[in-house]
Amino acid sequence: MKDETRLVHAGRDPQRDGGIVNPPVSRASTVLYPTLDAFARRHAGDAKYRAVRYGAYGVANTLALADAIAELEGGAGAVVTSTGLSAVALALTALVGQGDHVLMTDSAYGPTRAFCDEVLTRFGVETTYYDPLIGAGIAGLIRPNTRVVFTESPGSLTFEVQDIPAIAAAHRHGALVLMDNTWSAGLFFKPFAHGVDVSIQAATKYIAGHSDAVIGTITARTEALFRRIKDTTMAFGDVAAPDTSYLALRGLRSMAARLRQQQTAGLQIAGWLRGRPEVKRVLYPALPGDPGHAIWQRDFTGACSLFSIVLHTGDEAAVARMVDAYRYFKIGASWGGFESLVIPAYPAQLRTAVPWTDPGFVLRYHVGLEAPEDLRADLEEGFERLRQALC
Ligand SMILES: Cc1ncc(COP(=O)(O)O)c(C=O)c1O
Repeated sequence: MKDETRLVHAGRDPQRDGGIVNPPVSRASTVLYPTLDAFARRHAGDAKYRAVRYGAYGVANTLALADAIAELEGGAGAVVTSTGLSAVALALTALVGQGDHVLMTDSAYGPTRAFCDEVLTRFGVETTYYDPLIGAGIAGLIRPNTRVVFTESPGSLTFEVQDIPAIAAAHRHGALVLMDNTWSAGLFFKPFAHGVDVSIQAATKYIAGHSDAVIGTITARTEALFRRIKDTTMAFGDVAAPDTSYLALRGLRSMAARLRQQQTAGLQIAGWLRGRPEVKRVLYPALPGDPGHAIWQRDFTGACSLFSIVLHTGDEAAVARMVDAYRYFKIGASWGGFESLVIPAYPAQLRTAVPWTDPGFVLRYHVGLEAPEDLRADLEEGFERLRQALC
């Protein structure tokens, strides 16, 4: 079965749901049992992990979403969490404990770093940041107490592509490989086929796809890891809400088509940006010539429409003149929706393993579903404002 077909059919059973195409929203706290004996046995065996027992442990349509994500990524099981960030935090919490050591890519999403620095440290877990391009060299950083090698590929803001199969050789040293797989949406990168143990996504992005929901997913390679993670999410009482899960499962149905169009537009816009005199570098591994292109081409089957540019200028006031008056690229956090977005990025403020020294201003763009010609005209007018501001 191809992924396009899988996305249409995974996690739904119209026969079970009275012929209804979309699994209906199950709003529930209480679930009733016919007898005291059935109530007493509600957590037994598989039921603890896969049955509807109480709203806080998941209802039919949240479990359906989890099944669909597990199928898409090729894992043994998945949980759905309240946000993408809670998925990161809960996956880490499930797998590390006092005295353990985490290796974290220097290109990780900022709040992932903050969770390590501000929360895990309080529980006696040490984090070392590593060069995202380290590849097999990760073995040299592994300590006897290293439990997790956390990857994110391409990295947040600067889009370095990690050599995940080489890093996964860390298995031999007993550490688990976690990956923030949000950029590929689980469609363009198959984590478990490349040696990852646990894949995390902010389903907030392309899966929900309409900028109207926050939700996360954690998918595990093995049933044992899935159970350990689900035990932790249940212990925290964290689960995606039924209405939000409904939006995410609905978004999943059209995700391949949206991503195909956004990939085409993203490549067009990024390629055009690379030829602009104002732009020093485009950070987008789908573009031939990008430092990460070869590994991206080897391991990924496509690209989403999120990338950054480094301008020649570092003049923030001039950049504001350009960006503030964009017609379509609106200023706002997040990505993966139908609309185009832009934000300033300050990698120098985050990086510790490999300092970011380029003085050029960095902007992150998300290309939406608008016509690429309109987006290009918007950017072109912006460059004219930048030119005038720098005169
Ligand atoms: C790469 C990445 N991971 C995780 C998250 C967190 O997702 P959420 O906003 O749903 O908490 C984000 C959000 O921007 C992200 O960009």
